[in-house]
Amino acid sequence: MLPQSRLTCDFLGFKLNSPLVLASGIIGTSTGLMVRAARSGAGMVTAKSCSLAPRAGHPNPVALEWEGGLINAIGLTNPGAETEARLLAETHPQLQALGVPLIASVFAGTITEFAEVARVIDQAEPDLIEVNISCPNVGDEFGTPFSGTAASAAAVTEAVKQVVTRPLAIKLAPNVPDVARIAAAVVEAGADAITAVNTMPGMVIDAESGRPILSNRVGGISGPALKPIALRCVYEIARAVPVPIIGTGGISTGPDAAEMLMAGASLVGVGSAVYQRGVPVFDQIGTELVAFMVRQQLSSIDELRARCRM
Ligand SMILES: Cc1cc2nc3c(=O)[nH]c(=O)nc-3n(C[C@H](O)[C@H](O)[C@H](O)COP(=O)(O)O)c2cc1C
Repeated sequence: MLPQSRLTCDFLGFKLNSPLVLASGIIGTSTGLMVRAARSGAGMVTAKSCSLAPRAGHPNPVALEWEGGLINAIGLTNPGAETEARLLAETHPQLQALGVPLIASVFAGTITEFAEVARVIDQAEPDLIEVNISCPNVGDEFGTPFSGTAASAAAVTEAVKQVVTRPLAIKLAPNVPDVARIAAAVVEAGADAITAVNTMPGMVIDAESGRPILSNRVGGISGPALKPIALRCVYEIARAVPVPIIGTGGISTGPDAAEMLMAGASLVGVGSAVYQRGVPVFDQIGTELVAFMVRQQLSSIDELRARCRM
């Protein structure tokens, strides 16, 4: 067996080359970058979240590396759904040629607008639509994210499900008291998959100046500091729902990816590691994951997941 073929896996009927997924918002802003992620070994690629109208996002500084990972408050900068639909339509055939499905990501401030933006994006026929109900960085404008309660998360899911033809993944937040209950509610409302998790709200202060570093003052924590939190969320969700999970948060090595799969994820999202180490990180994590599987005498991702002793 070719070593890399150990990474092939199924997800919602798609045959993937790898369980590694480019997470939303990192480099999913141009066809060239998304194709490069696929060539480097991403099994699926997620575009940056888009809203109905274009958004400028927050003023700089919007992202910073700190010792635990990243903090960002970009503020969902995007060109709006019409332009995004053209980007997706241009990107999709190039990814298809590489056997890599495309995930679109949508965001809105109201339930009606979630349905509207999803309808526009659905027409571009991405392979999956991820519904970002969990961005923590736009609370000033939109209030508590819809991921905050089972009822509001399910209401968005139901409204979007009614207007789209593509399968749906709902992206959940880590900072809720019972993430499994919210996951169960969105699955009941029609979600085909769950992406868990988005960033964790946090703050970094520069003691010398006495000011927060980000212009938005608070932002979303991602990278290594998020990994144990994401593992716990995925572990709890996997026990509550039958749908596949894209486990995302702090994955930057092959053993990290193995841990996420053992927690119950079907696929593994990678965001901050791409931001910090560039597109080749997919090849590096994939190669490390294969080495781990060879060492552990695991011949498939399913076997790896079954190895979990929790
Ligand atoms: C700079 C940056 C921008 C992000 N933008 C988005 C976005 O547009 N939509 C979204 O759903 N998540 C967004 N995220 C969250 C990531 O997709 C991911 O859920 C989170 O960063 C945790 O994964 P990681 O630790 O591998 O980065 C962003 C994260 C970062 C660091």
